[in-house]
This record gives sequence, structure tokens and C-alpha cells, in this order.
Amino acid sequence: MKKNEDLFAHKSKSWDMNSKRVQNAKGIAELIVKNIKLDKSMELMDFGASTGLLSYFVAPFVKKIVAVDNSPSMLLEFEAKCDEFACETEVIEKDLSVDTLDRTFDGVISSMTIHHLEDIIALFEKLYTMVKDGGFIAIADLDSEDGSFHSDNTGVHHHGFDREALQLIAENAGFKDVKFDLASTIDKPHRTFTVFLLTAVK
Ligand SMILES: C[S@@+](CC[C@H](N)C(=O)[O-])C[C@H]1O[C@@H](n2cnc3c(N)ncnc32)[C@H](O)[C@@H]1O
Repeated sequence: MKKNEDLFAHKSKSWDMNSKRVQNAKGIAELIVKNIKLDKSMELMDFGASTGLLSYFVAPFVKKIVAVDNSPSMLLEFEAKCDEFACETEVIEKDLSVDTLDRTFDGVISSMTIHHLEDIIALFEKLYTMVKDGGFIAIADLDSEDGSFHSDNTGVHHHGFDREALQLIAENAGFKDVKFDLASTIDKPHRTFTVFLLTAVK
């Protein structure tokens, strides 16, 4: 992969037109709202926010969402919708596999993004520094799969995650009360995939 290549440039315009994708983000958001006590004073980071599907459904419950993503094209779509979010928003173009963000948040939410980062241990250590004491992470991604979820696995470093292994990584980074729930299922013609929501506190 070329350095700084925008892997989502050809997908950004049509990203929100996939109804299964929208339903997946909605299901994850509903579970976050159910499992975590959100309030209108909170500032969250949506890691891998892309066009803001997850942010959109969480926005009514918080003060501000900071969309962090390394795809300029996806972030342009997020910005184009900024009037539609029911909270303040801010967009930051950043690759968290190489950079860090010198900010702290009440929580970090994320959907379907962490399988794009090779070094998950480093990611969780980084996220720990970006969450305030008492804050939370709520991270959704695929359970272990056979590599057939994506039609093209370019930029995909993990074929889903084993929950026990991921729990250990989160705990070793310092997070407590690590829990998993089933957030949604995604039906494709050849099989059904499950999506977990990992929640934990600092
Ligand atoms: C599959 S999309 C998921 C988008 C959105 N959260 C959703 O559920 O619709 C993954 C997003 O993560 C972003 N991403 C991947 N690797 C990243 C990294 N290292 N740093 C920041 N963003 C990254 C991509 O640019 C893309 O927008």
C-alpha cells in the first residue's frame, strides 16, 4: 500500500447508500446508548468516523463528536452533513496507526475500523492515553471470520477478532470492566457475519 493512499476515495460518495451499512451503524449506536450512560456534556471521538454513520445516531446524546479518520474523501462527506448531526462536530484527518492525538475525550466510539490497523496492541495503548479517567471506549467490529467479508481485502489487517484475545489486549492497555455484546448481524449472500461491541472503562 502506498503511503498516505486514501483507500476509501472510490467508496466515499456512495458509502451511505448501502442500507445494510446504515442498519449496522444504527444497531451499534443503539447498543452504545443502552450500555453507556451518555450525557449532553460529553465530548467523544469517533475513530474511523468516515461519513459519520455511527456519529449521526449517537449525536443526540452527547455535546460533541470529533471525527478522526485518515481518509480525506470520507471526511469531506462527514463535513458536508455537519448540519444534520444533533451535536457539535469537528473533523480531524489523522492516521492513528502512525500518529497520535494530543487530546482527551470522555469516550471513544468506533465502528468497523480497527480491522484496518495492523498493530492492535499499539492502538489500544494509544486509545488509553486519549480517554479521560473514568471515560470509556465502545468499539464495534467483526467477530473472527474466514476472510470472505470484504470482496477486496486491501488494507484489511484482521479477519475479525477473537473476543478473548481482544479482551486481553484491552486489559493489558489498562482498561477495566471489558465486556462484549452482540451488536448486529450482517447478511451476505454466502453467509452471515456477527459484529461485537466491546465496552470498557479507564
Ligand atoms: C470500514 S470504514 C467504517 C466507517 C464507519 N465507522 C462505519 O461504520 O460506517 C473504516 C474507516 O476507518 C478509517 N481508517 C482506517 N484506518 C485508519 C487509521 N489508521 N487511522 C484513522 N482512520 C482509519 C478509514 O478511512 C474508513 O473511513
